[in-house]
Amino acid sequence: PRILLLGPPGAGKGTQSENLVDAYDIEHITTGDALRANKDMETEYGTPREFMDAGELVPDPVVNEIVAEAVSNTEGFVLDGYPRNLSQAEYLDDITDLDCVLFLAVDREELLRRLTGRRVCPECNKTYHVEFNPPETEGVCDACGTELTQRDDDTEAVVNERLDVYEENTKPVVEFYRDRGDLIEIDGEGSPEDVWESLHRQVETVT
Ligand code: AP5
Ligand code: ZN
Repeated sequence: PRILLLGPPGAGKGTQSENLVDAYDIEHITTGDALRANKDMETEYGTPREFMDAGELVPDPVVNEIVAEAVSNTEGFVLDGYPRNLSQAEYLDDITDLDCVLFLAVDREELLRRLTGRRVCPECNKTYHVEFNPPETEGVCDACGTELTQRDDDTEAVVNERLDVYEENTKPVVEFYRDRGDLIEIDGEGSPEDVWESLHRQVETVT
């Protein structure tokens, strides 16, 4: 299936994408990871880092190109982190069809807690939370033994900026799909396992 997973920063898109990849043997297309892997790449707008470390959106042409290439190279995917504004949503409409649009709803206070407590493996990209999803050994990746780090944009000040950018630019994208009758809203506030159960059930109904 071709799945779009929408949600504010910290809603659990990365966490649930891993489950979708395992369940359906599809690709995880995530603009955030793609940009982090190319943070210092020179573009005509500057480097992705200049935008990301401030919590701002990287310019559309840079991101659209990443997605167009990834989408053209795969049959089934879960797309995470894109589209983030209406112009990206219109671009996506032109390059692919979707089987299912999911939206993870989580309130702002919970998002702040999740993002400031997140830790990631710089080697394999697995995501943890100091309190809600800790690794077996504190500070060390279960999967590959690498020391966990905090993302540059997970400080409280940058998280607040990212949440503001979401409200202003990305909420209209959610409404865009809702108005078309395509949006499946999922309560993202339960445990990762509970959220996966409702999400999986919804995907099963459309695939
Ligand atoms: P990106 O990497 O896409 O970040 P984001 O959208 O802010 O999303 P996150 O990865 O922070 O959150 P998530 O929903 O994946 O949550 P996770 O599963 O990790 O983007 C980063 C930057 O790149 C942007 O600011 C922008 O600059 C740029 N960018 C990216 N895409 C772009 C685009 N299309 N256009 C322009 N610029 C773009 O979970 C969060 C934490 O909570 C984890 O610690 C996890 O363990 C924990 N957790 C997860 N689920 C639960 C649960 N159910 N209960 C308790 N804890 C949970
Ligand atoms: Zn790892």
